[in-house]
Amino acid sequence: MKKHVVLGVTGGIAAYKALDIISALRKKGIETHVIMTKNACEFVTPLSFETLSNNEVVTDTFKRTKSWEVEHIALAKRADLFLIAPASANVIGKAAHGIADDMLTTTLMAARCPILFAPAMNTAMYENAIVQENITFLKNKGCYFIEPDSGFLACGDLGKGKLQKVEVIVEEVLSFLEEKKDLEGKNIMVTAGPTIEAIDPMRYITNHSSGKMGYAIAEAAVKRGANVKLVSGPTNLLCPDGVERINTQSAMDMYETVNQNFQWADVVIKAAAVADYRPAEVSDMKIKKSGEDIQIRLTRNPDILQSLGAKKGNKILVGFAAETHNLITYAKEKIEKKNLDFIVANNISEENAGFKGDTNIAAIIDKDGVSNQYPMMSKTELANIILDKVRATL
Ligand code: CTP
Repeated sequence: MKKHVVLGVTGGIAAYKALDIISALRKKGIETHVIMTKNACEFVTPLSFETLSNNEVVTDTFKRTKSWEVEHIALAKRADLFLIAPASANVIGKAAHGIADDMLTTTLMAARCPILFAPAMNTAMYENAIVQENITFLKNKGCYFIEPDSGFLACGDLGKGKLQKVEVIVEEVLSFLEEKKDLEGKNIMVTAGPTIEAIDPMRYITNHSSGKMGYAIAEAAVKRGANVKLVSGPTNLLCPDGVERINTQSAMDMYETVNQNFQWADVVIKAAAVADYRPAEVSDMKIKKSGEDIQIRLTRNPDILQSLGAKKGNKILVGFAAETHNLITYAKEKIEKKNLDFIVANNISEENAGFKGDTNIAAIIDKDGVSNQYPMMSKTELANIILDKVRATL
């Protein structure tokens, strides 16, 4: 099926380079639809884009008929990728603050596909704290950015802010559109979410895990052709298409389910935040309050991952380590103790990392001690990096 990219062009000297992006994408058989801001039209004519894209170019909301506008929003919803290149500080700021005052920002707001910004501006503007905050905010909301290049800028300054090379942008677009099937036929079990440990029929002990990281891995793995079983603690997330979800509640439940399915799996990725302890006694009846303090005695849960490590064979085992300090040291200890191929370690006290959000900041450490620290990225991006590492280990 033909892929559709919507390309938003904003005003800047680099606008002419967007013409090369269009021709490169078309050569790859990708359908392109261009939306230009008013300022972009000062730098390049819509006719150039119309000729190269072979599609009508949209320049602003007001000259168009209503039905056409609606049609265009429908296109934004259908697009496989929304690329904004060059992206000015202005469009980044508008997107970050929910401003939709022209055709580009209106359509952007209706987009349901991945959104990729390729910023281009003067170095001082790019480094401006407000622009950087807007970029961080958008990344946090799941948008993607291609770092600008460094060099001589049109204004004569030397520094970061040049639109990234067309080849790099096109490569990035292609990797978004590409459907890798490099895990075809592999059986991957992923665990996700928290566990809940009952105190009585009404109360329980749990943790802040949202399950988002594990679900992102399950979804990415199925897209890459794997057969996926997702053993999930209680979450509010929808099961990704094509994934077999097995719901569990407590650590003991998860222990049994994971061990029952271990034989089936070629790879186990344990993203779940499993409670290390559970109440030693679970009351059958609701515990009534009294004037006294009460104590709940906790007993150890089995370590699920360690139980798998003990019978690992040639399966691939991937663990997670959520820490607040001594990240790398603790992660290395866990690799050894649980007999893992590699571990994904994140510092949950860092902003934009850990349980709740859509982004993570992680390091991947393997059993040979090689460690790679990754910058903040969406959980989907990190999921694919983890799967690349699984693929390489297989
Ligand atoms: N894990 C598990 N079973 C448990 C506890 C943890 O399978 N009872 C798995 C998690 O799914 C994760 C890894 O072990 O992949 C590390 O979990 P973490 O809580 O960070 O570490 P622990 O080994 O529990 O050690 P500590 O709590 O001391 O940090």
